[in-house]
Amino acid sequence: MKTDAGGFQGAPYQGRRQSLIEDARKEKDTSDSSSLGALEDQDDPVFQAEEAKTSLNLLFTLGNDIKAGLSRTIKIFETFAARIQHIESRPARGSGSTEEDLEFFVKCEIHNSDTSLLMNSLKRVAGDVNSVREEKVPWFPKKVRDLDKCHHLISKYEPDLDHDHPGYTDLEYRKRRNFITDLAFNYKEGDPLPRVEYTAQETATWREVYGKLSSLYPTHACKQYLDAFQQLEKYCGYREDNIPQLQDVSKFLKERTGFQLRPAAGLLSARDFLASLAFRVFQSTQYTRHHSSPMHSPEPDCCHELLGHIPMLADKEFAQFSQEIGLASLGASDADIEKLATLYWFTIEFGLCKQNGTTKAYGAGLLSSYGELMYALSSKPECRPFDPEVAAVQPYQDQTFQPVYFVSENFDDAKHQLRQYALKIKKPFSVHYDPFTCSIEVLDSPQKVKNALSQMKDELKSLCCALERVL
Ligand SMILES: [Fe+2]
Repeated sequence: MKTDAGGFQGAPYQGRRQSLIEDARKEKDTSDSSSLGALEDQDDPVFQAEEAKTSLNLLFTLGNDIKAGLSRTIKIFETFAARIQHIESRPARGSGSTEEDLEFFVKCEIHNSDTSLLMNSLKRVAGDVNSVREEKVPWFPKKVRDLDKCHHLISKYEPDLDHDHPGYTDLEYRKRRNFITDLAFNYKEGDPLPRVEYTAQETATWREVYGKLSSLYPTHACKQYLDAFQQLEKYCGYREDNIPQLQDVSKFLKERTGFQLRPAAGLLSARDFLASLAFRVFQSTQYTRHHSSPMHSPEPDCCHELLGHIPMLADKEFAQFSQEIGLASLGASDADIEKLATLYWFTIEFGLCKQNGTTKAYGAGLLSSYGELMYALSSKPECRPFDPEVAAVQPYQDQTFQPVYFVSENFDDAKHQLRQYALKIKKPFSVHYDPFTCSIEVLDSPQKVKNALSQMKDELKSLCCALERVL
């Protein structure tokens, strides 16, 4: 695992070292032989629906006697036992088409072996016969309760499986960890967040981490972090002798930025983890690291979440930035998920920002890592201005300190850049988060965009009236 870069006093503290990027890459590798892999083959116009069956999208034109032409084409579909799922028509627009010609779109399912025969038969009775590429979009949650399905774990670094985990040989620890992860497995949207009665040993581990890190924050953490940390100490039981409860922290965040927590049983897949951010939900582990290694955990634990992530989620600009990454991930291809996970890595986990002429840390991986926090803000590492295009493909490091850090001007600027980046992600739709229903609206038609705009117009009108009143 990662080693100290050297040159610093005391033992290095290491937080979560595994990365969403690697997870995303793994998911991508395992799905390369699936339908998504096939979709990237531009020469293949059909898509596998199920074994021996093919989903076909067809376009063809009928002219002259449309009624007779339609009857003949329907006969062809019947002959090949094609199951028609959708059919529609519009005036033909191809060159050489007359005003009377109609263009038809048919979506159907057919046996693999019959596809070319069907196409050839259609070409005898219709013009401009083409198959149309179908955009298959990976499933994504539309409602916040759909997050109950977003709990796919990456089962590595767990003490039951990873020989290098400090708790691997400690059966008591593994039992206790399993007890806490079961709380997350059994959690459903709307349930009260489980409260954990931490043992004296767990609290002692927390105390060591808390004491060491909080001594660095005044000089190394960004202003937003420090402000929120103060509030968390005041209202959420952040102190050396107490591990804060997710329930209390979630309530605190909800009131400030609308973010809420959801218990996670371990390291989630990149797609699931990023999707939850779209709903302003942060999936958080609740167990503690092994007591023999308070300064290092190979997997996320509550020290990393509570000290690294939570304070920043209390800042409005940062919360918005986090949600933007989540929204960009919905329905994205595996390759784009990998890039977004890399962006997440270099911002939310290891990001730096400028403040009053100096550089400060806002990334959770830094703010929960004593050694790397000191290293990142020393003169040693290479720092570059944040550019999503560059950061999204920057090789990362999960065995040692990052080779490079990206410095944002501020979160508003980072958010703006991220939005521009997200616009370039190829998707046949956009998404809009409705905060009233906590749901995602898929904007895939002009009417849906118009509806969303008219809602915003009303809100803008109210705000303009409010402005006039106070001017
Ligand atoms: Fe993290």
